[in-house]
Amino acid sequence: MKQYFFTLLLLMGFNNLFAQEPAIIPKPVSLKIESGVFVLDASTGIRADLKQTGVAPVVDFLRASLKNISGVSMPNKTAGKAIVLQLAKLDEIGQEGYLMQVATNSITIQANANAGLIYGIQTLLQTLPAIRTNAVMQIPCMQIKDYPRFQYRGMHLDVSRHFFGPDLVKQYIDLLASYKMNRFHWHLVDDQGWRLEIKKYPALTQVGAWRVDYTDQVWGNRPQAKTGEPATYGGYYTQEQVKEIIAYAAQRNVTIVPEIEMPGHVASAIAAYPLLSCNKQFQLPMTGGNYTNISSNYCAGNDSVYQFIDNVLDEVVKLFPSTYIHLGGDEVDKDPWKKCAVCQAKIARENLKDENGLQSYFMKRVEGLLKKRNRKMIGWDEILEGGLAPDATVMSWRGEAGGIEAAKMKHQVVMTPGKPVYFDHYQAGPEGEPVAIGGMNTLKMVYDYEPIPKELSTTEAAYVMGAQANLWTEFITTASMVQYMVLPRMLALSEVLWTPKSEKNWDAFNQRLPQQFKAFGQRGLNYSAGNFAVEIKPYAEKGKLFVTLSTEINDAKIWYTTDGSEPNLQSQLYTGPISVQSTQWIKAKLSVNNSIKGLQAAKQYFSMHQAVGKSVIYVKPYSKYYPAAGANTLTDGVRGTDAIGKNWHGFTDGDLIATIDLGEAKQVQTIALGCLQHYKDWIFLPAAVQFEVSTDGTNFTLLGNIPSPVSIEEKSVMHDFKIKAPATPIRFIRVSAKNNLCPKGHSGEGKPGWIFADELVVE
Ligand code: ACM
Ligand code: ZN
Repeated sequence: MKQYFFTLLLLMGFNNLFAQEPAIIPKPVSLKIESGVFVLDASTGIRADLKQTGVAPVVDFLRASLKNISGVSMPNKTAGKAIVLQLAKLDEIGQEGYLMQVATNSITIQANANAGLIYGIQTLLQTLPAIRTNAVMQIPCMQIKDYPRFQYRGMHLDVSRHFFGPDLVKQYIDLLASYKMNRFHWHLVDDQGWRLEIKKYPALTQVGAWRVDYTDQVWGNRPQAKTGEPATYGGYYTQEQVKEIIAYAAQRNVTIVPEIEMPGHVASAIAAYPLLSCNKQFQLPMTGGNYTNISSNYCAGNDSVYQFIDNVLDEVVKLFPSTYIHLGGDEVDKDPWKKCAVCQAKIARENLKDENGLQSYFMKRVEGLLKKRNRKMIGWDEILEGGLAPDATVMSWRGEAGGIEAAKMKHQVVMTPGKPVYFDHYQAGPEGEPVAIGGMNTLKMVYDYEPIPKELSTTEAAYVMGAQANLWTEFITTASMVQYMVLPRMLALSEVLWTPKSEKNWDAFNQRLPQQFKAFGQRGLNYSAGNFAVEIKPYAEKGKLFVTLSTEINDAKIWYTTDGSEPNLQSQLYTGPISVQSTQWIKAKLSVNNSIKGLQAAKQYFSMHQAVGKSVIYVKPYSKYYPAAGANTLTDGVRGTDAIGKNWHGFTDGDLIATIDLGEAKQVQTIALGCLQHYKDWIFLPAAVQFEVSTDGTNFTLLGNIPSPVSIEEKSVMHDFKIKAPATPIRFIRVSAKNNLCPKGHSGEGKPGWIFADELVVE
């Protein structure tokens, strides 16, 4: 029936009309195109009842937005061609929904509240150019009915690890609002910087907001500050700036949820006021990720700490109108509390079970400080440990388990699982991408996210208020990088959170995306075309190596080369697995509608040798955290690179012992095992690699032990442990390597390190 209907429309020549359908993201609940267009020009006015509460700022927002793109400040008009904003009593669409009717002489936006009017305006703005152009501004006549699926649609920004000034913060809020996100989680406090002016405690920003500038060095490798070095990197927001940003957000229906992190992640506060910690020792502001000898917790036994927090929160709630105040609560290293007499006395006096009990006591006590001010606490899912505070809302980041547990306990939940909504993770590559913290959350993974876990009943699911993406900035140092990591993944999340589940469609979303890319370009925003990347995946079958090429775009064609040249529409068209038989590059790009997409080709170098495609048997399995390409990663012809998450098999629980069977006795020249050292990531070269060979798989002959050429103190090394093979043919090869303990002075001193191996090269 549906098929027939569309065919009929096409025959009737309506296809042009459908092609005009504006590419709105998130997709509205319903949008019906009608014939005709509204032309936005200098004769257009604005009509609204300015006496209605809150309507005037909405009109200002509309007028300013239209002036940006038309150059005209449209006047209030009581008759004639106009954009009409009306508050009304409407069923079904709630407080954030709107109805929009575009006719040839009027655009009418109706809503129950200002929020809905604002979202109607955002939809309208998406039908227009993003900047001033000479184009005639036509909007197709249409009817839209629209409202959100979830009430909490959040984006987070960490301004502690790197500081971003008020202009970037406003731009970020503006972007959120353009896609109908309504919460900005402002991560104002962390170890590496306190960013909010607190008048009662000026040292929090005079000291805690400034550090020695090592921005040119990778986060984890930065030296610690030394006394006397100038602290020149940083910044903070004055309370006046914060007020202005809050007003800016409010005009766009964005509520700012400030995060005042505690009781961990507060090394910056302790640098300012050492008495807040357990050991009360002076420390310099952190420069990056080196925690050696750093206190990053408040002393949870010390009552004057709670007095300090009470005073800080007093200023916070006076500034921020948000009902929710985020108190952090994540990743508290409980060791200092174990060693602190004051904390232990508190545990005894309050009859707490242990340090988890102490964290729970801490969060409950601070929740009380919010409650007396009629505010609510939200915190990361660690606040469940030791017992959840009575009315706390849980932000589930370590997967969804915390959120599920809290919803079952009838607590409100915001879902923000690392996979797929940590936007500091890669979205493509990692080859060719700016260095990120790790992980991989592609656009499609975000689009496919469903915030309601299957584990919840309908009643329990009602506690899931929505979801949020987090942008931690250890590896993000500029405004341009912030944009790049968020665009376009935020658009996928906005559709997850706004559009009815039944209306979501990946292919249709991709068709609407280029229009948004155009708007990003017009606005000078840096964005990723990363989902137009091709994934190159090797696999072995019957001892032979094959490669599959895939993409997240369904209607794409993939073109590839094997001679190192750039692929184009004349290259080989991918139709199925490619057999790799010699050392070669595979480079691939995709096309949509006969146009090549994406900025650079996906590429992979394959090194052919006698073990490629052969099975690997381990005595102890590789870590589930470093599976690389699966079981036969050591023999897939793909060499590990500096990207530690990608091609390496990692071993930490015991030693590496791997055997391969070449299938038949073969003449071999050399055998080599590639290994990686990354000091800061606890990855060390083994002291030596032992090589053994056999013809029957039972009786092995020792070929020799090849020692490491460098000490484990060396920061970053890639090395092939290589040995000459015997003169006679061999069939089985066994390699063994002993794991190191982290050396003296290392942040993991005395704990087991890691071996990272790839590849086992037999020539
Ligand atoms: C977090 O990512 N530590 C909440
Ligand atoms: Zn203590």
